[in-house]
Amino acid sequence: MDGQPEQIAEAVQRLKGGGLVAFPTETVYGLGADAMSEAAVKRVFEVKGRPAHNPLIVHVSGEAMAKRVAAEWPEDAHKLAERFWPGPLSIVVPKMASVPGIVTGGGPNVAVRCPSHPLTLALLEAFGGPLVGPSANVSGFVSPTTAEHVREAFDKRDVLVLDGGECTGGIESTVVSVVGGKARVLRSGLIDAGVIGEVLGRAVECADSGVVSSTPNAAMPAEAPGQLSSHYAPQAKAVMVEASEVERVIAGMKGECVLVTHTPIENKSAATRHLISMPADARGYARRLYAALREADAMHPELIVIVTPPDENTRPIWRAVRDRLKRATTKE
Ligand code: TXA
Ligand code: MG
Repeated sequence: MDGQPEQIAEAVQRLKGGGLVAFPTETVYGLGADAMSEAAVKRVFEVKGRPAHNPLIVHVSGEAMAKRVAAEWPEDAHKLAERFWPGPLSIVVPKMASVPGIVTGGGPNVAVRCPSHPLTLALLEAFGGPLVGPSANVSGFVSPTTAEHVREAFDKRDVLVLDGGECTGGIESTVVSVVGGKARVLRSGLIDAGVIGEVLGRAVECADSGVVSSTPNAAMPAEAPGQLSSHYAPQAKAVMVEASEVERVIAGMKGECVLVTHTPIENKSAATRHLISMPADARGYARRLYAALREADAMHPELIVIVTPPDENTRPIWRAVRDRLKRATTKE
């Protein structure tokens, strides 16, 4: 990549001065800041407009750096890191006291992940320390999968953007907790509970979909903060409906409607509206998802109608796709 050393040097300088640098990953773009600097992390919450109770994932260059923020690094964490890092898996472990409380939303545990994008791995090496990295979007809105998406969201005086091209994964990492000897998936992603269970040699609970609330409360234990009911959401109203229901939902609408579908819809009224065709395979769909929601939103429709994708029995990745879509849409 041309100019990479200069870009990284500039980024490191920003980070050392407490500034913010957006970086590419294999999932979505992250909004990076020095994880050990309370002031820098505070800026991340400010520019994103993120609720303080929602903890941030700490990005590391590998297990050695992970151990600098983890008070314990259990065998489960080691096995998972060895198998899936660098890659789209965030592992929740007890945090080291030196990690500022603001990073973990005041909680005792920290999520760590080693991303696989070469530019970001080079950044982590050059910076020489862990970086927080929430998705580089304004809190609650659609996550960014290109550098352009990030530039649209933030003032360039606030955020330096490292352009690493389009993200290949398209949806955020799987978050798995291995705290207290239990393994639980807190957010589904491209790495599913089944393969995590195979690596750990036991069944892994999936606690991603039950918890939906917009404020911290008894139903949302500290263990799974930030799994908010409305998230990843476009500005236009969006609904998710079965293919057979599309015609009924669209009929009678006066304004424009954008139909997002992975399967052909046999119906004339739908055909007269904007159509965004999605890949029919789960990986391809995930990769396209956020860009498609942004395209739909840019048409300023009255309604975005998303055809419900297949369920996880077809392919586990559909679970993660559906999880994002549930949060991006409102009940009809
Ligand atoms: O793929 C990703 O994970 C991207 C890229 C940039 O790495 N990052 C990302 O960060 O999606 P964010 O902040 O948008 O989502 C972090 C998720 C939230 O659901 C948060 O609640 C959860 O991870 N999380 C973070 N720290 C946690 C902790 N200590 N315990 C439990 N959940 C945690
Ligand atoms: Mg996010």
